[in-house]
Amino acid sequence: MTDTPYAILFVCLGNICRSPLAEGAFRHVAEQAGLSDRFRLDSAALGRSHLGHPPDRRAMMVAARHGFDISTLRARRLMRTDFESFDLILGMDRINFADLRALTPREARAEVALYRERTEGVQESVPDPYYGTIHDFETVYQLVERGSRALLESLLPRVQAA
Ligand code: 4NP
Repeated sequence: MTDTPYAILFVCLGNICRSPLAEGAFRHVAEQAGLSDRFRLDSAALGRSHLGHPPDRRAMMVAARHGFDISTLRARRLMRTDFESFDLILGMDRINFADLRALTPREARAEVALYRERTEGVQESVPDPYYGTIHDFETVYQLVERGSRALLESLLPRVQAA
């Protein structure tokens, strides 16, 4: 086992709805498993419109309802150096993933994948809830809660002592 935490970056368009929920949900399941020190987690935006902002109020409400807090997160832009400093970069929808692939430097260290492909094996998006209702945010939570458990399970051999 290496002591360096496994680094995961969750990426969406605004970094105020889906990727903060994905980050928070994964942190929550890792904490429940007693493995939070084995991971470094962050999220980032492909777009510029909400940089520096806290998560959408509806995302914070859904997180709180399910027992975790994302209110201290702030939207930041994806950086070129992220492809070097993270092990895994997950695009929340198919457009995010296509954009990430186009931006991936040839020498990138990170594995770049579509969130639901990496977690569930389906080439599907986590749908953008921004113009939707609280129910759409709840749907995002359900997807990332399930995704987080599957992702953690798949990474256990990498982060647990042999
Ligand atoms: P996110 O949601 O990409 O899940 O953070 C969105 C946030 C803002 C916008 C679109 C999606 N927007 O168009 O400003």
